[in-house]
Amino acid sequence: MKIDVLTIFPEFFAKVFDFGIIRRARLAGIVEINVHDIREFATDKHRMVDDRPFGGGDGMVLKPEPIFAAIENLLGTSDRGAYPSGTRVVLLSPQGRPFKQAVAREFADDAKHIVMICGRYEGVDERVNETLVTDEISIGDYVLSGGEPAAIVLADSIVRLLPDALGSETSAANDSFSDGLLDCPHYTRPAEFRGMTVPEVLLNGNHAEIEKWRREKALEKTRSSRGDLLSGEKGESG
Ligand code: ADE
Repeated sequence: MKIDVLTIFPEFFAKVFDFGIIRRARLAGIVEINVHDIREFATDKHRMVDDRPFGGGDGMVLKPEPIFAAIENLLGTSDRGAYPSGTRVVLLSPQGRPFKQAVAREFADDAKHIVMICGRYEGVDERVNETLVTDEISIGDYVLSGGEPAAIVLADSIVRLLPDALGSETSAANDSFSDGLLDCPHYTRPAEFRGMTVPEVLLNGNHAEIEKWRREKALEKTRSSRGDLLSGEKGESG
């Protein structure tokens, strides 16, 4: 998979893809991640990337020209109908469709090339959305000062689902949300710590009982933290 990030703050990403699973996946050639400065594609003499909104109002809007030029440079076209198959151009914005584990899974399974456009200021010229963007995505019902943290969230959650990214010792199958429930609690040594003990069932080696306990605890946790997942209204997995 290839991921390209378009941002006006490339330094924001200086180290973030250099740790843990993402780093390992990059070194193993499972994913290639490149970060591009939108300003590099500005053609006017001041290299402007934003301007005041038509109709008035506060803040600045990201201009279309540098973003169109960046996409043409990466994909050879600014017509989203003509993108190579498996290409997704994602605009991170609070107006987007909610990002969930099922969306991460969809990208990990279907996408070969993901271009993420990090929005800024008051927004991005709507012609970017109308012409270039295949998926407008929000990571939650709150407003970030820019799409950069959201791009990191998407990259991390998608890359760890790519084949072989987690290595043989781990699996995404038991992750929270993968079966519509939150994950169960986990314990490690010591079995007793400051008088707090590990549930006996985890120590007895009876795998059927352990599975049953984990399922019960996952249900309990889901009920207390995220009842909406059980009532099926807004399931994170769906
Ligand atoms: N940019 C600003 N807020 C955002 C959000 N909630 N999700 C994605 N991108 C954003």
